[in-house]
Order: sequence, then structure tokens, then C-alpha cells
Amino acid sequence: MKEKLLIIGASGHGKVVADIALKMNKWKSIAFLDDDETVKSSMGIEVVGKSLDAFKHIQDCDLFVGIGNNVTRETIQEKLETEGASLPTLIHPATVIGDQVELGVGTVVMAGVVVNCCTEIGKGCIVNTGATIDHDNLVGDYVHISPGVNLAGMVKIGKGSWLGIGSSVSNNINITGGCNVGAGAVVVKDITEAGVYVGVPVRRVNDGWQRF
Ligand SMILES: CC(C)(COP(=O)(O)OP(=O)(O)OC[C@H]1O[C@@H](n2cnc3c(N)ncnc32)[C@H](O)[C@@H]1OP(=O)(O)O)[C@@H](O)C(=O)NCCC(=O)NCCS
Repeated sequence: MKEKLLIIGASGHGKVVADIALKMNKWKSIAFLDDDETVKSSMGIEVVGKSLDAFKHIQDCDLFVGIGNNVTRETIQEKLETEGASLPTLIHPATVIGDQVELGVGTVVMAGVVVNCCTEIGKGCIVNTGATIDHDNLVGDYVHISPGVNLAGMVKIGKGSWLGIGSSVSNNINITGGCNVGAGAVVVKDITEAGVYVGVPVRRVNDGWQRF
């Protein structure tokens, strides 16, 4: 672990990431990188350069990709990993994390989240405010679990999927990678084809691949 943390992305998601990092109280200094030159600071934290500048700081800073889009986050995190960057896992102090839970690098777990025992969450994931992930789940890399999502036991979510705010997934369900489950949706059967799914129970509305 390094003494400085650089967060790539100073907009809404990046701000929440920074707030969590501040509350963890592990870094002597925290700064943002952002490609929007008009943004000089965000929530009182200085923007010290552009996203590509991250590669100049691999030796002296921890780096965290604070970008909500799953594809963009994956692209940047994978390049940083290849270059040997130190990528922390950020966990808000007000979370409940069960025994034998594994969380990958570059993953953020936000306030009010409950992750029950024996669940594995991959790298570069967002587990957003107040989500619950029950026992024995397997959440793939670069998944976004939005605020208030509920996953029952033994659920599997494939790489890069995005579960919209307040959606629910019943127990023993597999959702393949590249899916977008809409706000408030309920998934009671396996989803085997990438695409956008909405409603209760969900129906497929389009292919949606790589839009999120
Ligand atoms: C699923 C979602 C991505 C679809 O967006 P989109 O591809 O732009 O889809 P559209 O808005 O064109 O809607 C397509 C159809 O699905 C319906 N639909 C869209 N989202 C829906 C939802 N969550 N529940 C029920 N129906 C929905 C629309 O009414 C529309 O139906 P119609 O063709 O009969 O008019 C979006 O509606 C959604 O739910 N986003 C989640 C946002 C979220 O969770 N944000 C939190 C971020 S932290």
C-alpha cells in the first residue's frame, strides 16, 4: 500500500469513491485525475492531472478507477494492472461483510451494503449503496450492483453486467455477462443471453451489449 491515492474520475461516482477512501483513513493524501480540464477540484479534493497521468504514478501512488461505466472501468483497470499498479479495494466502514467473503482489487463496497458469508466478488466491481448480496454468490469482474439491489443466495452474475437500482434476483439464479437488468426488475429464471432486461418478472428489451 502507498501513502497517496489517486482516483481516476472526479464526477458523481468518483466523489462517492473519494468519500469512502477518506473515511477509511488509510492514505496521507488523496487526489483526482480527470480528463475534463474545466474541473479543478471535486468535493474539496484537487484534480492533479488527466487519466493517462495515472501511468506516471504507478510507483508512488495507489490507483483507483472511479468511473461508473463498466466497460470504461475495465479498460482502464486492465491497463493499470498490466503495468503493475497497486489497486486497492475500498470498503465503506458502515458495511457488514460476512466470513469467507472475497473481494477483488479495484472493487468498491458502499455504505449500508451487506455481503453474506462465502460470497466471491470479482475485481473492478461496484457494490452500490444499500445493496445486499447473500451467501455463496459469485459476482464476476466489472459488475455494477446498483443501490438497493437484493441478490438471494447462490446467485451468479457474469462479467460486466449491470443490475439497475432496486432490482432483485431470486436464489440459485445465473445471469450471464454483458446484461443490463433494469431498475426495479425481478429475475426469477436464469438469463443466458446478454442484453437489456426489464420488468417483473424480467423480459428482454434489446441486446444492449457494451452500452454500459
Ligand atoms: C433498463 C434501462 C437501462 C433501459 O434503458 P434504455 O435502453 O434507454 O431503454 P428505453 O428507455 O428505451 O426503454 C425500452 C422499453 O423498456 C421499458 N423500460 C425501461 N426501463 C424499464 C424498467 N426499469 N422497468 C420497466 N420497464 C422499463 C420502457 O418503458 C420501454 O418500453 P416501451 O418500448 O414499451 O416504451 C433503464 O431504463 C434502467 O432501468 N436503468 C437503470 C438505471 C439505474 O439503475 N441507475 C442507477 C445507477 S447507480
